[in-house]
Amino acid sequence: MPAESSMSPAPQNKASKTPELEVIELTTKLNNASHEYYILDKPTLSDTEYDKLFRRLQALEELHPELRQPDSPTLRIGTEPQSLLAKHTHLQPMLSLGNAFDDKELKDWEDRNIRLLGGSAQLSSSGYVTELKIDGAAVSITYENGLLVRGSTRGNGTIGEDITPNIRTVRDVPLRLKGNFPTGQIEVRGEIYFPFDQFEKMNNERVKASEPVFANPRNAAAGSLRQLDPKISSSRPLRFYGYSAVTKDGDSLPFKSQWDLLQALSSWGIPTAPNKQLCYTMDEVIQWCADTEQKLRAELNFAIDGGVVKVNSLSLQSELGVVGGRDPRWAIARKFAPDIAETKLLAIEVNVGRTGQLNPYAVLEAVEIGGTTVRLATLHNQDIIREKDLRVGDIVQVKRAGDVIPQVIGPVPEKRDGTQKPWSMPSVCPKCGTPVVKDADLVAIYCPNLACGGRQLEAMVYFASRGAMDIRGLSYARIEALLANKLISDIGDIYSLTKESLLTLDGFKEKSAQNLYDAIQASKTQPLARLITGLGIPHVGEIAAKLLARHFGSMEALQSATVEQLEGVRGLGGVIAQSVNLFFNDTSTTALLNKLSAAGVNMVEAGAASSGGALAGQTVVITGTLPTLSRLAATELIESHGGRVTSSVSKATTFVLAGEEAGSKLEKAQQLNIEVINEADLFQRIGS
Ligand code: IVH
Repeated sequence: MPAESSMSPAPQNKASKTPELEVIELTTKLNNASHEYYILDKPTLSDTEYDKLFRRLQALEELHPELRQPDSPTLRIGTEPQSLLAKHTHLQPMLSLGNAFDDKELKDWEDRNIRLLGGSAQLSSSGYVTELKIDGAAVSITYENGLLVRGSTRGNGTIGEDITPNIRTVRDVPLRLKGNFPTGQIEVRGEIYFPFDQFEKMNNERVKASEPVFANPRNAAAGSLRQLDPKISSSRPLRFYGYSAVTKDGDSLPFKSQWDLLQALSSWGIPTAPNKQLCYTMDEVIQWCADTEQKLRAELNFAIDGGVVKVNSLSLQSELGVVGGRDPRWAIARKFAPDIAETKLLAIEVNVGRTGQLNPYAVLEAVEIGGTTVRLATLHNQDIIREKDLRVGDIVQVKRAGDVIPQVIGPVPEKRDGTQKPWSMPSVCPKCGTPVVKDADLVAIYCPNLACGGRQLEAMVYFASRGAMDIRGLSYARIEALLANKLISDIGDIYSLTKESLLTLDGFKEKSAQNLYDAIQASKTQPLARLITGLGIPHVGEIAAKLLARHFGSMEALQSATVEQLEGVRGLGGVIAQSVNLFFNDTSTTALLNKLSAAGVNMVEAGAASSGGALAGQTVVITGTLPTLSRLAATELIESHGGRVTSSVSKATTFVLAGEEAGSKLEKAQQLNIEVINEADLFQRIGS
């Protein structure tokens, strides 16, 4: 999001702050927002808001260049258009593929090659390699003596765009090849893709942050790769599968077949896609295509749009050659039917999430897509329903692949008969009847009733989930039953359950009741971060929970933290700080935590309280440029000695660590009579 911004006139700032203070505040706010977006994957500012603040900062910095902070986001975020990615000429052209849409076209392709080769003998002994056709973005990665030196897009096949920093962020692209790799320059070709589960997660986050969603994983992969700011690519969980390797002269590679090439890629540490097969007859190829399309496709966590059939022998490949410099005769794509089906939208129903958010979903007439029956599909929020103009009774197109929750692509308006009805969000919570509220920033609609049965159910499911307290056996259905039988009414009640009370429920036997009871008891010793996660504080996921646990060390310290102290936690933004503060100021939170504490649930971070350190319990503010340490290094150093770094000077500050060109923070420290030390003093204090 924040990468694209323009220089339109800066909005007027209503506050009468000094420009210096405003520049510092904007820098911190924007950097926090970027961190939440790129690193924590939890966007807290919308595009528009970010852009507005960014432009305000740019305008201020233009007026007062001396105020620009060394970590100003304006220094690193490119405003250049994307065409400014440098060009790269591939060692050899990146080819494309001809298509076969059915088995007959595959056979025709083979017949043509048999004719060209004057018989079928060579093809029979070479065989074919069948591979998945990954639906991502084609890239070429150059290694020089085993070291990754460049990554580039396909471009027009001859010249691509240099995306080296972005390619380096793809975690399964090795930066150095392993094993017996060829010396000199080699280009590894393959496909960058966005896994389905991550794609779904990212789009859900973007919906929550009112940001436009990506249409499909391919667009998300290609868009992420071509970002000018590699931080954006690095925050996206891109993956890679290699399928080819070339050198400039073409014949110095140590293999004679596509099959050997794939094995070699693996041995160098390059991931290759699963399900490849060496086939010796066209019948085997056809069988592989059918199995892949009908069975395997639905199980994959990434998109494929077909299979690729390649003549295995590399010498036969060069004999067959390339048509018009574009499509090789030795390979063909067997396209699969898209994983889309049409069905009737029977109803739009609403589920209440743990934070009270109302989530609409589609109830569909059962339909088979990619080998599974689909009855429900996610609809995200009412704006999306409105944008797509979905009406109850519509014939809709539904997409499903792999583990992805089925999605409604949109209605088929030509199939309307006038009986279809537009839909709008209910004005009261469907679970408890409380009038709903619209979140100020987001498009989401909420049930504000903390005691809402729907919210409690989801909150408990989340509390017991794997990433939180991990209470095995406390399933959705069991929580529903426990709530319905009034054995529990909130999270705190989980710990008062006994084996005997569990046995009063249908479906529990001696052993299952004992197991669940044991799992509940065992969860009491879970680390503090898991408990914080399990509380389901809005905007606080596993990462933020870890940061909070590490920083505060105990639930008690976290409960009493001020917004300012929370904002001082490195990696945590203002929105999270506000949300945490709000949560702990609620009396129902206090009651819940008392209940949990009385039940013996662990409330301290192991090792945190006892870690001691020369700066234990001290709150430090860093300002100006330090002689040797970067801001980050100084923060880490202070934290590793038990201290806490916050961003603004207050009475709670123990000392200010000041460097060259320290500004208002230094002044404030002097006003408040707070000790100011330099880097050398710091080293002395920590004995380094
Ligand atoms: S081979 C023969 N193998 O499909 C040279 N391409 O439609 C062509 N693709 O640009 C590449 N999976 O981006 C090859 N296993 C695979 C592939 C694959 C996906 C893409 C590739 C190519 C496009 C052609």
